[in-house]
Amino acid sequence: MKKIRKAVIPAAGLGTRFLPATKSIPKEMIPIVDTPMIQLIVEEVVKSGIEEIVLITARNKGEIEDHFDYAFEVETTLDRKGKTELADVSRRIAKMCNIISIRQKNPLGLGHAVLCAEAAIGDEPFAVLLGDDLVDAVIPCTKQLIDIYEKHKASVVGVMEVPAEETSKYGIVSGREVESGTWKIDQLIEKPAPGQTQSRLAIPGRYILTPNIFDCLRRTKPGSGGEIQLTDALQLLASEDALYAHRFQGTRYDTGDRVGFIDATISYALKRPELRDAVKLIMKKHLGESQ
Ligand code: G1P
Repeated sequence: MKKIRKAVIPAAGLGTRFLPATKSIPKEMIPIVDTPMIQLIVEEVVKSGIEEIVLITARNKGEIEDHFDYAFEVETTLDRKGKTELADVSRRIAKMCNIISIRQKNPLGLGHAVLCAEAAIGDEPFAVLLGDDLVDAVIPCTKQLIDIYEKHKASVVGVMEVPAEETSKYGIVSGREVESGTWKIDQLIEKPAPGQTQSRLAIPGRYILTPNIFDCLRRTKPGSGGEIQLTDALQLLASEDALYAHRFQGTRYDTGDRVGFIDATISYALKRPELRDAVKLIMKKHLGESQ
């Protein structure tokens, strides 16, 4: 069984839900406290034992590549001033991984974005992480899914339970529970209308895929929203091969949504020892004012 060595991170979206911030900077570069969201995603990949990242980008996304490169003038200036620790913060990001970037020239959907990675992935299993979903976990979410992939020797999607009224926001899976927290999937529906499925198992943007997904993607017609959906290709994979779902441990934040983004910002700030007390004071002040 081949090891997971590569991860695909689709980052080609316009990020219009975050206008005006995304007018001239990529959505992925918006920070949670002081760290761009894409760096948090890349850190999950690296902590999961993967060193090669295939970034699917579009026009005006150059800052993402710059972020994972050395910033010579910043680093040498800091070194000269004796601020090597800060210079190392910058250098560490460049050392973290190798990035291959590929342009998705037409916005044809998530499935199409993953298909754009085929030449860089080849005949290997790989991870996919969506940038709008942050998962804070002791064992990185992607690592948890790699363990399930190794156990069942098949593709795996991470799942979480969502309230019935939220199923229309996600790819929803259903199947047979083969062991506590792991299902063999029979059916997947992208953003089901209310009542279309009883299942509440939603995919929040974490996948381990075997390379036969590319053939499934090529045969997938445009679906929800007129786009080529990864979820629809996964239905082919589940029918023709095998697909598992695993309920990962950890807290997931929907940073593609304003409220989810604020939730993540507060949670990540409270976890930083040097910020915690100050943030708590600010929160107390604002809560007092709003009563
Ligand atoms: C995408 C996927 C969907 C998944 C979701 C997770 O949808 O198509 O299956 O559940 O990400 O965030 P999007 O949110 O990009 O519309």
